[in-house]
Amino acid sequence: MPQIELTQLQYTYPQQSFRLAIHHQVLSDSLIALVGQNGAGKSTIFKLLTGLLTADSGSIKINHQELSDLTPKQRLKLIGITFQNPDDQLFNATAQKEVEWSLSQVMANKQQITLKAKAALAKVGLEQQAGENPYDLSLSERKRLTVATVLAVDPLVYLFDEPLMSLDWYSKQMMTKIFHQLAASGHQIITITHDMDWAAAEFESLSVMANGHFKFSGTPKAFFSNRSLIQEVGLLPPKIMTIAEKLGDSRPYLSVEDYYRQHSK
Ligand SMILES: Nc1ncnc2c1ncn2[C@@H]1O[C@H](COP(=O)(O)OP(=O)(O)O)[C@@H](O)[C@H]1O
Ligand SMILES: [Mg+2]
Repeated sequence: MPQIELTQLQYTYPQQSFRLAIHHQVLSDSLIALVGQNGAGKSTIFKLLTGLLTADSGSIKINHQELSDLTPKQRLKLIGITFQNPDDQLFNATAQKEVEWSLSQVMANKQQITLKAKAALAKVGLEQQAGENPYDLSLSERKRLTVATVLAVDPLVYLFDEPLMSLDWYSKQMMTKIFHQLAASGHQIITITHDMDWAAAEFESLSVMANGHFKFSGTPKAFFSNRSLIQEVGLLPPKIMTIAEKLGDSRPYLSVEDYYRQHSK
């Protein structure tokens, strides 16, 4: 299982008061939801992990390899990202070319690139849209296209920045299934999300950030059992917990199924 280790990591944006400071943090679970209020530093961590930003000091190791020692190609094979806004990422004339471009950064065989791109588009349900301009696709489809660009390259670690944002129900189901399949095949998936219902129900592990620090790392059950911590970091529990609490039951529940299981015993 891949492992990310951050040690004494510091980063500040020029002329900004925000400061990311991580003493020591290991991320080793296969399915991690990274949560926290807006401005907590979640996207900044992703940018540091992919080399889009360079830390002021400290170390980032992926599977014991220092990130800064890797060539760009090695890095792309190790860790891939989709941005929050697909328009920051997409620039090719067709969906097919978009995925092919990502592949061309890590391999040379044109025939293989074409085949792999087709397969990745099919995985996200965009095979019919291969010839379309990304800007003619819906936002939900553009989000899925960015996922295809990473699936094609198939890095060991996948970072998704708010992948469910503006997705329709069908696409959300599809993404959730893809994430579980990736985790089952030995990949690590870290996804930033504001959807606590989704994070609680589907993720093995929760990492919580506030003000440029990690405040918690552990199971969703452990986090949502700690009411004062939930409040301190400015998050909301899953809806099912709010309903249960209104009914006088303040125990932690991760989903409707979890509630049902605990009550049907
Ligand atoms: N490119 C940038 N230049 C200056 N400040 C930035 C930039 N990107 C983010 N910030 C600031 O850094 C802080 C953390 O941002 P970010 O990592 O995007 O938070 P999150 O993803 O958790 O919402 C915020 O205060 C934000 O305003
Ligand atoms: Mg963000």
